[in-house]
Amino acid sequence: MQYIQIGDDRVPAIGQGTWKMGAEGQDHRAEAEAVRYGIDVGLTLIDTAEAYAQGGSERVVAQAIKGIRDRVFLVTKVAPSNAGRDTFRHSLTESLKRLETDYVDLYLLHWPSKTVPLEETLAAMTLAHRDGLIRYIGLSNFPTEHLDEAQTLLGDLPIAADQVEYQLTNRRAETALIPYAARHGKAIMAYSPVKDLFDLGENHPGIKTLNNIAESHRVSAETVALAYLIGSGPVVAIPKAVQRAHIDANRQALDLELSADERRAIQEAFPSPGEDLPFVAL
Ligand SMILES: NC(=O)c1ccc[n+]([C@@H]2O[C@H](COP(=O)([O-])OP(=O)(O)OC[C@H]3O[C@@H](n4cnc5c(N)ncnc54)[C@H](OP(=O)(O)O)[C@@H]3O)[C@@H](O)[C@H]2O)c1
Repeated sequence: MQYIQIGDDRVPAIGQGTWKMGAEGQDHRAEAEAVRYGIDVGLTLIDTAEAYAQGGSERVVAQAIKGIRDRVFLVTKVAPSNAGRDTFRHSLTESLKRLETDYVDLYLLHWPSKTVPLEETLAAMTLAHRDGLIRYIGLSNFPTEHLDEAQTLLGDLPIAADQVEYQLTNRRAETALIPYAARHGKAIMAYSPVKDLFDLGENHPGIKTLNNIAESHRVSAETVALAYLIGSGPVVAIPKAVQRAHIDANRQALDLELSADERRAIQEAFPSPGEDLPFVAL
């Protein structure tokens, strides 16, 4: 089973995303049961955000982790517009209330902010860490150079993780970010790790390659894709899944080790542009 180090914690390298859970008109009980099932099979890192379904996703997560808070590595995010001196602590407190807990394991700035200086957010995060409300500080959607600048601003307290889009159709994180994370003891959280595969169609050379490898290991193409991502360095992938067959397939990736030849075939079938991630501030 593959693990990743986040700060001092050792966490299974496949977690669970929850974007779109908790939205109006959906079956929140089924969503919470899915997340709980995922935890029970070993996917103990849960990713949510105050922005998801206006807090609805955090409420679903609270249901899923009731009574088992200490078995879970809980990640949530402050929206960039709420990350300033006067609003940060209120956002965090509201997230804690919705999550029905008194601490989060990892708290991320969801996107670089157009309006709030990063120094302000990092100072507020440092105070929240000091007060025991967040165990680790992290960022999301920060390219390598900006992550490095943020670490310089923060000083001694480490930025434990950067959450970015990383999937076979977007391998930009491999260019500089994952090597940087490996050198500096940081974790990369891969978001949207499977979703763009569906649109490619059976005749896409990448899908054919994944299907061939999947067949030889008797797993699904998505399991192979996830195993590739978490085999690329200090990476934890956070697929969102409600269907149990999907959760089982995601769990299988923790035990699938791809050969060097299989990894090379995947890389050839999903070529990378060789650029870093773009900088986008919201
Ligand atoms: N930091 C950010 O800016 C940011 C941005 C986007 C996402 N995220 C986080 O990353 C998480 C994952 O990203 P995402 O939700 O965009 O996309 P994703 O996890 O790549 O794709 C989700 C979709 O894939 C399906 N699925 C999951 N596992 C599967 C499998 N093994 N086989 C086939 N289909 C499978 C799900 O179906 P079912 O639900 O029907 O099972 C769902 O339709 C989010 O939920 C969120 O927590 C963060």
